[in-house]
Amino acid sequence: MYHVKYPQMSRSTAIFFCNSCGNEFAKWSGQCPACHEWNTLVEATPFLKTQRGGARKASTKPAEAFSVKQALTSQKGYTLTTGIGEFDRVLGPGLTRGGVYLLAGQPGIGKSTLLTQLAISIQSNVFYVCSEENTAQVATRICRLSKKDTPNIHLLNTSLVDSVCETIAKNPDSLVIIDSIQSVYTNQNATTPGSPSQIRDSASLLIQTAKEHSTPLMIVGHVTKDGNIAGPKMLEHMVDTVLDLSGDRQHLLRLLRTNKNRFGPTDETGIFQMTGAGLAEVKDPGAILLEGRIKNAPGSCLTMIMEGTRPLTIEIQALVVASPLPIPRRIAKGISINRLQLICAILTKHLHLPIGDKDVFVNVTGGLDVKDPGADLGIALALISSAKNTPLPENSICFGELGLLGEIRKVSFGDKMLKEAKALGYSQIFSPTTHRTIREIKL
Ligand code: TYD
Ligand code: MG
Repeated sequence: MYHVKYPQMSRSTAIFFCNSCGNEFAKWSGQCPACHEWNTLVEATPFLKTQRGGARKASTKPAEAFSVKQALTSQKGYTLTTGIGEFDRVLGPGLTRGGVYLLAGQPGIGKSTLLTQLAISIQSNVFYVCSEENTAQVATRICRLSKKDTPNIHLLNTSLVDSVCETIAKNPDSLVIIDSIQSVYTNQNATTPGSPSQIRDSASLLIQTAKEHSTPLMIVGHVTKDGNIAGPKMLEHMVDTVLDLSGDRQHLLRLLRTNKNRFGPTDETGIFQMTGAGLAEVKDPGAILLEGRIKNAPGSCLTMIMEGTRPLTIEIQALVVASPLPIPRRIAKGISINRLQLICAILTKHLHLPIGDKDVFVNVTGGLDVKDPGADLGIALALISSAKNTPLPENSICFGELGLLGEIRKVSFGDKMLKEAKALGYSQIFSPTTHRTIREIKL
């Protein structure tokens, strides 16, 4: 409805392009007329109908049709194992032929490191597009991370998507890595690399070619300051799987999650640790997260959360101190500030905990970002323990969501966490099965 046609437009004619929905408009406006998002329209040049696009339009050949059986046999052996256990766990069956994967993450989190390790460990040929770094930099990293020769890795010294597509067409059975989508460009778009329309056009050319030749494609995407993938939102719609590598750069743990996955589950998390020899798989994250913990300290609470389908033990620390300020501070690291404020309000209302005039600080150790509501009880107990200057019972752990009425609510996979807590030898477990409300827990 909103697409504008450009029959006589020259290459330099500007149009406006919505960062959120990808629609194009002839005029700028503060709100996108199509998706109604505010301030998403940016100036760009239109997608030029060059030979490739024109030929596609003029094609008179009918489209090839396959029965389900034929389509399945043409995709025989369609998954490739990555050779990295935690990576395969997140992807589901491994890499799918013709599958397009977008790996997003903050700068310096380890995207290039992970993909270099993938290139080293996978059995098939790999074409690594060095557009962000030069071939010598990538080669040095490969040599650092691999002790053996890597004849299967081919470094492409180009940023031109059209050349990469030619390589894909000639080598359909290889894995292609684009590092990153923000630094490549296609001749079909005259804007600079990294502009929303350039990302859209480059990605669409790459995806189309990868699908045509059943080649798996791994694309690196930058993340902006507010945590979104740089470029048009539609990039996430165009790819099959969106992988997110997160963690705190000051800490060692890195979590690989899928936000969208057309080929497998989205509830698995791969856990890695950054070492001098690249990202190492972590089998016992609890040991890293609880390293150096002071036992029986007031304000410290062990909590069990679910990371994908795995229970994980974390330590939540709280500090409640007298505030010199008229409006006391609420500072949270690893949990959202809104959740901290909500839990403070619940404790004030239902336990009459005197924290209204105190500064409150909460920290999740290990640099984890906890979104699981099952950590509510842990935050509350850490706060109570610090406010009363009383340590929690020795060898205790907790999990449960807090309701506004002070009730401890059930969380998903509660049975699994209970089993894990018992297996780890915790003698006291605070959970929705042992206590119905926060008032019932006596410290
Ligand atoms: P990198 O993969 O380049 O990050 P991204 O591509 O996401 O921007 O690596 C980021 C950091 O990882 C870098 O600061 C150095 C560190 N690193 C190690 O600690 N060990 C290693 O073996 C490698 C290759 C990198
Ligand atoms: Mg990089």
